[in-house]
Amino acid sequence: MKTTTPTAFKNAFEEDVHKGLTTYPKHLLSKYIYDEKGDKLFQQIMEMPEYYLTNCEFNILKKYATDICKSFSDEKRFDLIELGAGDGKKTKILLKELLRQNADFNYLPIDISQYVLNQLKASVNRELPKVSIKPQQGTYFKTLDYLAELSHRKKVILFLGSNIGNLLHENAIDFLRNIREAMNADDMLFMGFDQKKKPQQILDAYNDKTGITEAFNKNLLVRINREMQADFKPDTFLHWETYDPETGTAKSFLVSKEEQEVNIPVLNLKVQFDKWESIHTEISQKYDEKVVEWLAREAGLKIEARYSDESDCYRNYIFKRG
Ligand code: AVI
Repeated sequence: MKTTTPTAFKNAFEEDVHKGLTTYPKHLLSKYIYDEKGDKLFQQIMEMPEYYLTNCEFNILKKYATDICKSFSDEKRFDLIELGAGDGKKTKILLKELLRQNADFNYLPIDISQYVLNQLKASVNRELPKVSIKPQQGTYFKTLDYLAELSHRKKVILFLGSNIGNLLHENAIDFLRNIREAMNADDMLFMGFDQKKKPQQILDAYNDKTGITEAFNKNLLVRINREMQADFKPDTFLHWETYDPETGTAKSFLVSKEEQEVNIPVLNLKVQFDKWESIHTEISQKYDEKVVEWLAREAGLKIEARYSDESDCYRNYIFKRG
């Protein structure tokens, strides 16, 4: 590797890419997949028949909406705070049911992207005009802390889509602890956890034949090319998925099909790849009851309720402070 370390990185993306491509084995962080193109590719993934997660969670919310919403409101005014709201397709099931139950609530979606929030606000106003929606632009924890200081209403925090699965267990525990810090005794956390299942079904979900997931994974390289004037040739990398049924960890890689050198001028970095050398790009953790219980315990949370779909592919949990 020929490199002169830049004195200062312009942003965390540059620093993380530099670190990930100069350590062995190489890695890149999946959070950087989500630029405008990455967001669109993820929307397409959620529409794919192989990506069962979306439908499973959708079905759970539909089937148990009455029950779930009753436990949210519990006759009290509350704030429904959603972390990483996306297009709100699944949340709207709950919003509709809450309106039907005449619940007194504000809907506060938090997202880093103002664009996503504007789209969501427009669609909620159009489809469910009675919902009081107050989008909050920012990072999850800063915004959560700020909201906790601002209002003393009961908080129900939503984190859907098994997004927790993109974190290693130790980071997931930190994440849950941070949420717990912002919670009072009455508050609730409602989360989705994709479950361990037939390994082939998981591999198919992350390795579709149409190549959408491949494009999603390779968007990391495309984005580095655009933002750092790099010359990655995405076609010379193979999208590769693995699943370990013992740990429940699905991993995505990009594997170099040839020996090559990639130039990243903005980082003043030339990266050498051996033939078949990998870049680890994402983990998508799958869970079982024991692991969810362990995560909750470690984070100081207790499980109040759990809901699953007919095939037990996916579960949603309600947690309170332990
Ligand atoms: C956002 N996250 C929960 C997705 C997952 O299942 O890990 C991202 C994804 N990666 C490939 N397909 C979908």
